[in-house]
Amino acid sequence: MTSTIFLGTGHYVPEKVVTNDELAPLINSSDEWIVQRTGIKERHYVDWENNPMSTSDLAAKATLAALESANLTPADIDLIIYATLSCDHAFPGDGVYLQVKAGFPVGTPCLDIRTQCTGFLYGLSIADAMIKSGTYKKVLLACSEVQSSGLDFSEEGRDVTPLFGDGAAAVILGAAEDSDGRGVLTTTLGADGNLADVLCVKYPGSMYNPRFSQDMFKEGDRGRYPQMNGRLVFKEAVTRLPVVINETLQKASLTIDDVTLFIPHQANIRINEAVAQRLAIAPEKVVHNISRYGNTTAASIPLALDETVRAGKIKAGDVVLFAGLGAGLTWGASVVRW
Ligand SMILES: CC(C)(COP(=O)(O)OP(=O)(O)OC[C@H]1O[C@@H](n2cnc3c(N)ncnc32)[C@H](O)[C@@H]1OP(=O)(O)O)[C@@H](O)C(=O)NCCC(=O)NCCS
Repeated sequence: MTSTIFLGTGHYVPEKVVTNDELAPLINSSDEWIVQRTGIKERHYVDWENNPMSTSDLAAKATLAALESANLTPADIDLIIYATLSCDHAFPGDGVYLQVKAGFPVGTPCLDIRTQCTGFLYGLSIADAMIKSGTYKKVLLACSEVQSSGLDFSEEGRDVTPLFGDGAAAVILGAAEDSDGRGVLTTTLGADGNLADVLCVKYPGSMYNPRFSQDMFKEGDRGRYPQMNGRLVFKEAVTRLPVVINETLQKASLTIDDVTLFIPHQANIRINEAVAQRLAIAPEKVVHNISRYGNTTAASIPLALDETVRAGKIKAGDVVLFAGLGAGLTWGASVVRW
């Protein structure tokens, strides 16, 4: 039976670090408020003045790191899956830009998905299905975000702006025939489109004619910035994540006690602590890196995964649980025997 195993991981974040103390005066906030409510201390931003980079630039660096760790070249990859909410252009999707920038052969198919914070989980599920069906043998899943060019750096943006950061991560997934039980065991995905407007950026959009107009910049119209009902997203996350995690473990005939490491989406440390507490997952099994990166949306889970792998904290046979919820709303969980 074919399994989907992780062949390599990589990440890249721009060098520029922006601390809460640097951000706070712009948005009338404080380091204390941001740390207490979210666990975030700093985030990385593209250095727009000295070294401008696009989302696919970040993705290319993460991809090359993942390929190197897998000891593979771009020519070995059969499919590129790319997840982001912050594409370089309105269209085409970023996958084709990544193909060129990371040196993939012309002809390598590029599939863009946009499920925001669950981009990694949705992408993993697609890659797993493609590999298990025999369609492709090696798949790159790249997840990348540049948020810093789309945030509101005024007091009006203070409930959203400190949460997000720029970053990218990538994994290489491959087919294995005798994997000894290792590989992606199962993934569960979900969505509730009734809550689409709870976290969204409206402009530009094809439902407006023209798509861009001066009206979109008039005072009081905040449609070009992320709008979020933070309390509702928080509530949805702490109620839905335990359910989808239990369902996923059950499908894999595992229990919480079997989980070696829990790598959740990094949106708010309080969400992840609450979910771990509800499920009785020991705090030392939960991976947090939100204090250094904030929420890097699609890149968040694979970035935490790559750091954990590179720190030597995952060994063969470990059961790794991923889970997240974000804009859409979309959510999901996946369990992997490493
Ligand atoms: C955004 C979030 C941190 C806000 O924390 P909260 O405890 O819910 O705070 P509230 O939104 O209720 O705001 C409380 C007060 O703090 C104020 N406030 C909001 N942002 C602030 C900031 N950065 N600095 C200082 N004060 C702020 C609000 O204006 C509000 O003031 P009021 O009581 O006078 O009206 C929290 O709701 C959250 O993390 N939600 C989930 C978000 C998420 O996960 N999003 C991404 C999903 S992928």
